[in-house]
Amino acid sequence: MNWNPASWRTRPVAQIPVYPDPEALTRAETKLKSYPPLVFAGEARNLKRSLAEVAEGRAFLMQGGDCAESFAEFHPGNIRDTFRVILQMAVVLTFAGAMPVVKVGRIAGQFAKPRSGDTEVVNGVELPSYRGDIINASPFDAASRAPDPDRMIQSYAQAASTLNLLRAFAQGGYADLHNVHRWNLGFIAGSPSGEKYRALAGRISETLEFMEACGITPESTPQLRTTDFYTSHEALLLGYEQAMTRIDSTTGDWYDTSAHLLWIGDRTRQLDGAHIEFARGINNPLAVKCGPSLSNDDLIRICDVLNPANEAGRLTLIARFGADKVEEHLPRLIRTIKREGRKVVWSCDPMHGNTIKSSSGYKTRPFDRVLKEVENFFVVHRAEGTHAGGVHLELTGQNVTECTGGASAITDADLSSRYHTHCDPRLNANQALELAFVVAEGIRAERFKNPRIIAAQ
Ligand code: PEP
Ligand code: CO
Repeated sequence: MNWNPASWRTRPVAQIPVYPDPEALTRAETKLKSYPPLVFAGEARNLKRSLAEVAEGRAFLMQGGDCAESFAEFHPGNIRDTFRVILQMAVVLTFAGAMPVVKVGRIAGQFAKPRSGDTEVVNGVELPSYRGDIINASPFDAASRAPDPDRMIQSYAQAASTLNLLRAFAQGGYADLHNVHRWNLGFIAGSPSGEKYRALAGRISETLEFMEACGITPESTPQLRTTDFYTSHEALLLGYEQAMTRIDSTTGDWYDTSAHLLWIGDRTRQLDGAHIEFARGINNPLAVKCGPSLSNDDLIRICDVLNPANEAGRLTLIARFGADKVEEHLPRLIRTIKREGRKVVWSCDPMHGNTIKSSSGYKTRPFDRVLKEVENFFVVHRAEGTHAGGVHLELTGQNVTECTGGASAITDADLSSRYHTHCDPRLNANQALELAFVVAEGIRAERFKNPRIIAAQ
């Protein structure tokens, strides 16, 4: 197919800066090439199989994490709290939605950010935009904003130790379903969604006791004790992704071993562009962000290029329109995919189309807009008879104040109190859990084909 890990270099490339020292860049990329893979190709294949279940309507995808990981917030507490809130959400979806949940973090490699402008002007001074810690640093001075290839090495190291801890949590006992009550700690416990979660956890504990009495124990059924947790990030900085791309010795196929799933952002999905060229040759499951500017024809061309064999689980389409635009754009894309018989996972990113500037000057997302986009996503899929397959969220397990609203009614004026994100505003753990209950309603409504359930809320 005339592809190699470097073939993207012959295509127009968006969102990747020019490094001031090309030799230092080559040195860093060469070093990365010699480092161990972060994930194993067999794991990426397992994820693809699970996503095929989602594409067929038998499972649900829960993908979430920071907008951008950062060097400054690299801390075991942060990793644990993100993992924990994703577990809590997955439990809500599995139990209340009665569907297997595929858990994928935006974590252990989510460092590179696309920006709307190449430069930023502050008080008459123009400097390169901050593009995520894998590329440059955010303080507004020339030295910080210069792209530094050694940041790729530091990102690799941080991704490796983050993944190491996530694997320990997933397999080493923390994710044991018997701990379902213990995940509801600290500031979440007293909130309305924490209360709701406690009631659900109580029912799960009773169910586990019942199952144990029937002989279904963690010893006989290891799924009760461990969980599968996968990693993902935007495949933006292609030099880094290329260096992590290796031939899998069992199949002879190329895999990008920097994460299990890679996605292409809404700003880099040009058909003739470098990002699509790179992604088409790797065998990982892929996702593409679909914003309002995506035409029906281009969507099919993207499917042709990224999933020529029409393999279920290979391609996830992440719709991110904004709450008011879902009804305008999602039906046309769904009908196009249906008409062409393509197998895809439909996921909903209710974050990126709902970003506004608050009156206090912070970039924020009103939680009711986020909820509305998710609800509209479910309503449209029910009307089209297709599976609302997943959600893609920017969230943190921390008690931040970045998105307004939610049960604790964060206001514009509250945003400054704990606004920590390095890029876009994230749901805090309470808002994330609250959203999970809404998603669970959507899943149930689809399962039981009762369109009134959501409408009546
Ligand atoms: C993101 O997921 O952080 C992002 C930049 O999204 P999008 O490509 O949808 O704008
Ligand atoms: Co973002």
